[in-house]
Amino acid sequence: MDKFIIEGGRKLRGKVRVSGAKNAALPIMAASLLTDGKVTLRNVPALRDIATISEILRTLGQRVERTAGTTLEIETVNNAKFEAPYELVSQMRASICTLGPLVAKRGHARVSMPGGCVIGVRPIDLHLKGLRALGADITIKHGYLEARAKRLKGAEIYLGGPYGSSVLGTANVMMAAVLAEGETVIENAACEPEVQDLAHFLNRCGARIEGIGRPILVIRGVDRLHGTSYRVIPDRIEAGTFIIAGAITRSRITVTNVKTRHIAAFLDKMKEIGVEFVRKGSSVEVIPPKRPKAVDLITLPYPGYPTDLQAQIMAYLSVAKGLSLVTEKIYPDRFMHVAELNRMGANIRKEGSSAIVHGVDRLSGAPVMASDLRASAALVLAGLAAEGTTEIGRVYHIDRGYENIEKKLGAMGAKITRVTEKYPA
Ligand code: EPZ
Repeated sequence: MDKFIIEGGRKLRGKVRVSGAKNAALPIMAASLLTDGKVTLRNVPALRDIATISEILRTLGQRVERTAGTTLEIETVNNAKFEAPYELVSQMRASICTLGPLVAKRGHARVSMPGGCVIGVRPIDLHLKGLRALGADITIKHGYLEARAKRLKGAEIYLGGPYGSSVLGTANVMMAAVLAEGETVIENAACEPEVQDLAHFLNRCGARIEGIGRPILVIRGVDRLHGTSYRVIPDRIEAGTFIIAGAITRSRITVTNVKTRHIAAFLDKMKEIGVEFVRKGSSVEVIPPKRPKAVDLITLPYPGYPTDLQAQIMAYLSVAKGLSLVTEKIYPDRFMHVAELNRMGANIRKEGSSAIVHGVDRLSGAPVMASDLRASAALVLAGLAAEGTTEIGRVYHIDRGYENIEKKLGAMGAKITRVTEKYPA
């Protein structure tokens, strides 16, 4: 298992380019199951999660090939396959978004039940509710979801749960509805840019989705989808992570390939903290304050503040002047980073679904453990700012969602070494 060794306290300089969005690419790749003809996707990051969904698609009879740097080609070579096995699904919850396309296009899906994970229980009731409303017959047996349908039928579906809309739930039901007979209305649809990107992709393949980016989606079913060529949006969470990297090291860096509209809530919070920005086209120059101000924040569905940038901003707030209150409204247990940040000298107390962050003057390097993707990113950020050396174990979590993070930050002057740990035979 690899670990990172970070020498903290160094200034960053220069530019860093944001890669394609993992969470947009994953469902779009799954949507290739719906199409007849070749799909060419550009701006697809080379990440472990992308490799995992590629493997799942191959077991489902798709040819998936990286033809050049960030370009993937996907096409169906065997449409008789319908099973996504446990060994692969257990590696990544996003595999659940093969369920809708499979049942809509092939009439039969057998997908391993995804488990929970460190950020929470993560139920899939909304996915099942939506697909059942479209007429799929779904049973759960021996750890597998089995869905069957002759042809799905359009329906009116309310997709809100106790924490609001569901990103992949909306994706799954929308993907199934594009090939259903008649009209589907999804109410309380997720509006996240990644869901919008999937809808735009589907429309480019011949789907008829209206209301993209709004909580009521109207989908008129079509008989078939064709292939297309499509460019995936830039990763807003990676963009936010780099912006914090500049701010926490008090360095004026420029982050390029950013869609600022996608991170409006985040940029607004950063301004409240005291960070200034100079925007030029899709580039954002970060002008950090000497010391960040404490702020309160609540994570919410888009366009609210994203849960996927909660851990990273907490690393920054841990060195702010004053007391910040960070409340999770998406995943009430997503605070695995708190104990690790405290090992680095932060003063954070978890209280229910909130964390009270007492800003300290500085963090100090320490051995810490990555627990999930975004928590790992928070530890990297803390390590960049800390005095001395930070060792982060289990960085395979970060490889799931950040492309070459140590190289990208390294090119701006950070000192991050990846060490591959060998175990005795
Ligand atoms: C997506 O997960 C993202 N994953 C997550 O990013 C992200 O944190 C999350 O959306 C919220 O923005 C991908 O896109 C691959 P949800 P998803 O369904 O779709 C509850 C990362 O770090 N819920 O929108 O699985 C759920 O428990 C990952 O890149 C139900 O109650 O999240 C949560 O409280 C981690 N029933 C809330 O809804 C359901 O059927 C939102 O979850 C589904 C969800």
